[in-house]
Amino acid sequence: MYETRILSSENKIDLEYTAKLLLQDEVVGIPTETVYGLAANALSTKAVAKIFAAKGRPADNPLIVHLSDFSDAEKYVNDIPDLAYDIAEKFCPGPLTIVLPKKEIIPSITSGGLSTVGLRVPLHKTAREIISLCGVPLAAPSANLSGSPSPTSATHVFNDMTEKIPAIIDGGKCSIGLESTVIMFENGGIRLLRPGYVTLENLQQFGVPVFLDKGITAEISSGQSAPSPGMKYKHYSPKANVTVVAGDLEKFTNYVKQNDGEGVYSLIFDEDKNAFPLKCLTYGNSSEKQAEELFSILREIDEMGITQLYVRSPSKDGVGLAVYNRLLRSAGFEVIEI
Ligand code: TXA
Ligand code: MG
Repeated sequence: MYETRILSSENKIDLEYTAKLLLQDEVVGIPTETVYGLAANALSTKAVAKIFAAKGRPADNPLIVHLSDFSDAEKYVNDIPDLAYDIAEKFCPGPLTIVLPKKEIIPSITSGGLSTVGLRVPLHKTAREIISLCGVPLAAPSANLSGSPSPTSATHVFNDMTEKIPAIIDGGKCSIGLESTVIMFENGGIRLLRPGYVTLENLQQFGVPVFLDKGITAEISSGQSAPSPGMKYKHYSPKANVTVVAGDLEKFTNYVKQNDGEGVYSLIFDEDKNAFPLKCLTYGNSSEKQAEELFSILREIDEMGITQLYVRSPSKDGVGLAVYNRLLRSAGFEVIEI
């Protein structure tokens, strides 16, 4: 058991101490622009095993490997297509993970037993600084307990990981708030495995077809195989029951009125607030704002003792597709169309 310390991203000594811990095969919570990560030396079986233990993560769910620069990619993966370099030029560093055939140096525990590995170069300065100080790539899943909403602040990480890890670097609130876009290459095109801040529309600009994996909008049961193992598992789930309700504000209001009671709240757009007569929280108007707020709200509702949350279905365009995907998952794909 550890006494978990919160360190500062602004303090050089704290960053050097973090690098030292990481090189001793310890796990540290670090900020990125998407969500906080639970980082360990990606090349060390012993260190990576500690990530799986701290999260309670299924062993077949692979970790993303974080680099300080995409030019290091060829040390860890084979057969990098020109398209990958074109995409990396535009979006690395940034909220994008590119899945490629792994080299042997990446241990099987890191890739969840797969022959591929996802590479990401975070935009967050502190994350890249820590990777550079370590001189090794860092495996980092989101720093939540498996199944819970991803953490977007150091406090969220502390609430899930206290006594399980020695340190968390506080780099403030994550600017994006949802995990990176995950892609792989297939049949001369791109397969989108997880939508994020790098959008479907952004990827379509490279002049090749972009396939949306069906796991983005439909449930994959744990018995089925999935191109991205994370799709099979329950995710982003608060204790409260979450239901996505699609329809205009009037229909939404009538539906919630019929189902209202103790512990029932709605999550609506800011612009709906004045016209909505029932208990509610708001999550912005734009997709970007919704992305930033969603996970924090999903954690807050449990603290408030809410038992049922009805959510106004967001836009599915641009970053909205990522917001919609995370909501569907937290709702166990329960959508009411009215
Ligand atoms: O923004 C992010 O990506 C954050 C920050 C910390 O970088 N990390 C993150 O990692 O969200 P994690 O482990 O919570 O989610 C990674 C997702 C999982 O759904 C996993 O199944 C998928 O990416 N994934 C990782 N490697 C893969 C691979 N080789 N093939 C297919 N899917 C992969
Ligand atoms: Mg995660």
